[in-house]
Amino acid sequence: MSFSILGTGRAVPEYVVSNDKLSTMVETNDEWIRTRTGIHNRRIITTETMTDLCVTAANQALDDAGITAKDLDLIICATMKGMYITPSEACVIQKEIGATCPAFDLNAACSGFIYSLDVADGFFARGKIKHALVIAFDNLSNMTDWTDRSTCVLFGDGGGAVVLGEGDGLKSIHLTANGNTDVLYAPRGELTSPFDTHKGEKPVLHMVGQEVYKFAVTNMVRGIRKVVKAAGLEQKEITHMIPHQANIRIIDAAAAKLDIPRENYVVNVGEYGNTSAGSIPIALDEMNKQGKLKKGDYIAMCAFGAGLTTGSCVIQWDK
Ligand code: ACO
Repeated sequence: MSFSILGTGRAVPEYVVSNDKLSTMVETNDEWIRTRTGIHNRRIITTETMTDLCVTAANQALDDAGITAKDLDLIICATMKGMYITPSEACVIQKEIGATCPAFDLNAACSGFIYSLDVADGFFARGKIKHALVIAFDNLSNMTDWTDRSTCVLFGDGGGAVVLGEGDGLKSIHLTANGNTDVLYAPRGELTSPFDTHKGEKPVLHMVGQEVYKFAVTNMVRGIRKVVKAAGLEQKEITHMIPHQANIRIIDAAAAKLDIPRENYVVNVGEYGNTSAGSIPIALDEMNKQGKLKKGDYIAMCAFGAGLTTGSCVIQWDK
């Protein structure tokens, strides 16, 4: 037994930061950002907290699924950094929504949502759970060097959630990681031990953009080919393709090598930028709430991020 998606939710901060606003902070301009990335705006946390937004997304997903927090048997929060080092963000969310089940965080950077689905699948397969909540949220604006124009224009805050129940919606899933600390990383920050001889570094994201770009295109193509085949499908049978929303050029380059019709790609990077683990569930919830998902549709998803990690899957919508 695996899972089906019973409900979805999302939450993004109110405050919109435009490319023009960024051009008052670093040496950049709207034209450069739009043409190199497809990003126009991003949402940035000001007065909300990450937990407020995670709880909003979680409660929406519970409502959409028609269950309550008390019905949950598992909570996974896909994030690189919660509100606390400990407890986990999943436990903080659990407290706010009033659930009583096991809860933990999972860090696979931008691939965290797909990694969490695979972990949840294991709990369903072992017959341990009937309902799981997966929330995916990264507060990238607090991991960004706002003086570095090559990264600060790319990111935004936001995330989404899904409630999973027993079912046969998951058709195939594939994860990878290749142990790379050079092209995309954020140091853990200040060290508190008077005995430690190492120096803490500012916990902001560093990226070798072109290396990540090549990795992303190659592995999106590889991952999607693999999971579509494993699901017993042809690429043209994929009704909705939801790629990680990092850069429109990455999506275009991968789409050119795949056989999924271009109009089936879901793209919202223009409005949110790269929200890391949150990007796929935000797009999924938008599709759901706009009534664009029909029972029987095949949804392919593919994410890539620090690690370097990737996660790809095919899910049949059976709501
Ligand atoms: N505004 C204006 N100029 C800029 C900016 C900016 N915001 N940023 C960089 N430049 C300049 C550079 O300094 C460089 O100038 P130079 O030629 O004088 O040296 C020039 O623009 C070209 O820079 P490149 O890095 O070669 O630009 P590129 O076309 O590769 O685009 C980008 C950069 C958008 C980052 C691209 O490499 C990319 O999308 N990479 C993938 C990023 C990604 O997907 N990350 C996902 C993971 S993130 C995560 O996991 C949290």
